[in-house]
Amino acid sequence: MSNENNGRVSFGGRFSIIAVAAGSAIGLGNIWKFPYIAGVNGGAAFIIVYLVCITLIGLPVLMSEFLVGRRGQKNVIGSYSKLAGKKSPWILGGFISIMASAMILSFYGVVAGWTLEYVVKAVSNVFEGKSPQEIGQIFGSYVSNPVKTITCQLIFMAMTAGIIIAGVKKGIEGFSRVMMPVLLGIIILLGIRAVTLEGSGGGLSFLFKPDFSKLTASGVLDALGHAFFTLSLGAGTMITYGSYISKRENLSATAVQVALADTVIALLAGVAIFPAVFAFGLEPGAGPGLVFVTLPNVFGQMPGGYIFCILFFVLLAVAALTSSISMLEVGVAYLSEDLGLSRTKATLLLGSLISGAGILCALSMGPSQDALTLGGKNFFDWLDYITSNFALPFGGLAVVLFVGWGLGKKNTSDELASGGKGKYTNLFIFVAKYVAPVGIGVVFLHSFGII
Ligand code: PHE
Ligand code: NA
Repeated sequence: MSNENNGRVSFGGRFSIIAVAAGSAIGLGNIWKFPYIAGVNGGAAFIIVYLVCITLIGLPVLMSEFLVGRRGQKNVIGSYSKLAGKKSPWILGGFISIMASAMILSFYGVVAGWTLEYVVKAVSNVFEGKSPQEIGQIFGSYVSNPVKTITCQLIFMAMTAGIIIAGVKKGIEGFSRVMMPVLLGIIILLGIRAVTLEGSGGGLSFLFKPDFSKLTASGVLDALGHAFFTLSLGAGTMITYGSYISKRENLSATAVQVALADTVIALLAGVAIFPAVFAFGLEPGAGPGLVFVTLPNVFGQMPGGYIFCILFFVLLAVAALTSSISMLEVGVAYLSEDLGLSRTKATLLLGSLISGAGILCALSMGPSQDALTLGGKNFFDWLDYITSNFALPFGGLAVVLFVGWGLGKKNTSDELASGGKGKYTNLFIFVAKYVAPVGIGVVFLHSFGII
């Protein structure tokens, strides 16, 4: 352990930092959510808008979060109050971020639970010889069975809590260092398998040939929201992790590598999924069930499919776990540092609250659906919609405005120069002051129909 961060624990070296931060970024967002929202929003045109959001908004916000965390050497609220003063309004941004991380983990844990069930289904070979309709029914009857989904969700939450209790070094760092390379290997294998399927061309042109007539204002808001979600921004995660990055590491290089890794994995997931969707004549706009219905179909009909199917759902579960720990760590760091709870107590308390909200999410897809649905969205959908489209952009806006206007140039340039040259400090400050905030503002106004 290195001690140069005033005695605070820090991740050990380059590889660990990338594994941990990319571990948070790469998750269900890339492999489950990105393909289905790209599918619903018409494919390539949406992806272009998404890539613009990642570059002009996501990357500067990611750098800002690392910067605030490493400068503050504390949890989200602790860092804001240390850098801006105890009563400063910026703390509201920190508060919203902590809420957002808890809300996301509530529904995230449910989908992650599905992946555990699907590992078991894959191992017991339930998909073999089934028609696409039958595989669709397997998914439908599973998600509407609350006993099963809640059991899986709670198992997943217990795994998340276990890693957090094990600590920042042994738990978070140890797990991510081992699992991230495994994950990369599996997804590359799957991508190669998918593009070598006969009839995969339709999927590739869906992904890469833009049709802007399919893009709507709400699609643009979705693209921005997803840029935040996929890079784990606005939820305090990257601020908290930033506080564990040693002063020897260069923050801008780290941010660029993490954003790039996340984008490559999302595109690889698209490449693994859409060619197969088209090759088997399935529906690209199928929604949240997309990977759970489409891929078992594909695996069921291809040589070696049994193994690939198991690998795929193991991949999903692992990716989900390296992300869920980062969400839980946000609140646990706050509760244990600022409110004096032990790490274990903080984890159990927060983990139970989040699991409770998660149970409502799971129920909102089952027999209690009607009671938990409002305005066409159930409880699960509402949490997803509010966090991705509002809480995360708001938390991200706060951090980038803070770095642009509140933190002071000296803090910023010191942090950027630490562990590197800090060549682009002025450009970065300009982007943090104007480009990213205006970008977020424009998307908001556009999605409310104002421009
Ligand atoms: N980035 C994660 C994913 O893509 C989700 C996440 C969001 C993680 C917010 C932490 C905070 O799956
Ligand atoms: Na992601």
